[in-house]
Amino acid sequence: MSDRHIAERVGPTGLQSTVQRCIVATCGSTYGIRERIYVCPRCNGPLEIQLGFPSRAAAGSLRKQWEARATSSDPLNHSGVWRYRELLPFDTSSPVVTLFEGNTPLYDAPRCAEYSGLSHLRLKHLGCNPTGSFKDTGMTVAVTQAALLGAQTVVCASTGNTAASLAAYAARAAIQCAIIVPHGHVTAAKLAQSMDYGAAVLEIDGTFDDAMRVVWGLAADSSIYLANSINPFRIEGQKTVAFELLQQCSWRVPNHVVLPGGNMGNSSALSKGFDELLRLGLIDGSPKIHVVQAEGAAPLARLFAEMGKVQLRDNAFSLPDCITPVEHPQTLATAIKIGAPVSWQKSLRGVLQSRGQVLAVAEQEIADAKAIIGRDGIGCEPASATTVAGIRRLVASGIIRHDESVVAILTGHVLKDPDYISHYHRGTLSLPSGGKDQDGAVQKIYGAFRNPPERVALSKDAILKSLDRRRRASMQGTKS
Ligand code: F0G
Repeated sequence: MSDRHIAERVGPTGLQSTVQRCIVATCGSTYGIRERIYVCPRCNGPLEIQLGFPSRAAAGSLRKQWEARATSSDPLNHSGVWRYRELLPFDTSSPVVTLFEGNTPLYDAPRCAEYSGLSHLRLKHLGCNPTGSFKDTGMTVAVTQAALLGAQTVVCASTGNTAASLAAYAARAAIQCAIIVPHGHVTAAKLAQSMDYGAAVLEIDGTFDDAMRVVWGLAADSSIYLANSINPFRIEGQKTVAFELLQQCSWRVPNHVVLPGGNMGNSSALSKGFDELLRLGLIDGSPKIHVVQAEGAAPLARLFAEMGKVQLRDNAFSLPDCITPVEHPQTLATAIKIGAPVSWQKSLRGVLQSRGQVLAVAEQEIADAKAIIGRDGIGCEPASATTVAGIRRLVASGIIRHDESVVAILTGHVLKDPDYISHYHRGTLSLPSGGKDQDGAVQKIYGAFRNPPERVALSKDAILKSLDRRRRASMQGTKS
């Protein structure tokens, strides 16, 4: 356990008025923040943390305070999550479990911009977190809460990244960790991380959604703490990405923020973050939030399309009661291979409030967008590339204008799935579900930006020839 303690109170109104609140409009029940619950005990609805906000006047000083902390020598301020502790549900006595998460870069990406039809595009790379994905910003908070509650074991279902992150933070806190993953559907790199961090790696025959059902059962045991994003404390950590992003943008709000959607925790978190800044008067408008899924695992995109044009009157709309799951989700972007997302309601609420979109993109589009992100010298895992693929579509359909400011959220590190990259560039990447066409032939993904390695003779001449040929080819490509 870390020996660091939060140095200041949450805010002038403090924790006393901070509660866990059911988001279902007809329920709205509230619960104490140290009650170990994940959904509303009354109606089973999703919970969120409702902060006892500092007053707008007190909030005025927050921006300056947060900016000063970014250069402070206090180790707690090195965390890009705990730096924003006035808006987190903890008090002075809380020991913090941190790996100095957050602090992730915001890059200009000119090649991605050109590919998407934009004048300018920025990529916020959450894959630069300690375990290589955005999960760390949530896990520092969830495991801090688990330790406070005296949990013996922390548990999650995962497509790989949640598992790696939970395993690392549990190791820091010396709490037992069990991760439940679908056998054969998690990349080797992600599994390797969880093994290294000492978690019990438990592989089931089934999908992520089956794993999620099993962990629900486990979480009924009072010594076990559930760390999936249905847990509102995860969302509290992940919302700080909105704060850090705005700080990096000098508090100028981008027109659009685009992120991948799987279990839908991250989009819920970002919407909450922007909403809190707006309510505190720290920004004067919110970005449109667009969520992008892979076509073979797109239950929310399907629901969104079915809803048609939602009438937004005074920001009031009613959320659908249920979502139809995708029984056998299919995508090579294994991180988002999810058919029954647990946080779909919170995510959809954020998208609708911001007047954004939920859309789905094809495997080919994800693969090519990923290669283009690589050409900007940035790189990411496949799920993250749904963003650039989605932006390209949103620009083509006129929903995003060429000159608007757009930020794509990259969620995972390029080295999370090296097999995918190698197959793409060697021309051996094939579609999921066996990827067979009517004649039984394997359907390959054509890598428009393929860059396979080349066997070359052991001579200076041969190497120079190869470089010359490549230069000419790329000049021809530029002309055509
Ligand atoms: N990108 C990456 C790299 C992910 O690992 C995930 C989710 C997402 C996007 C989608 O985020 O679920 O908040 O909508 N990965 C989870 C996991 C499910 O178990 O690692 P979401």
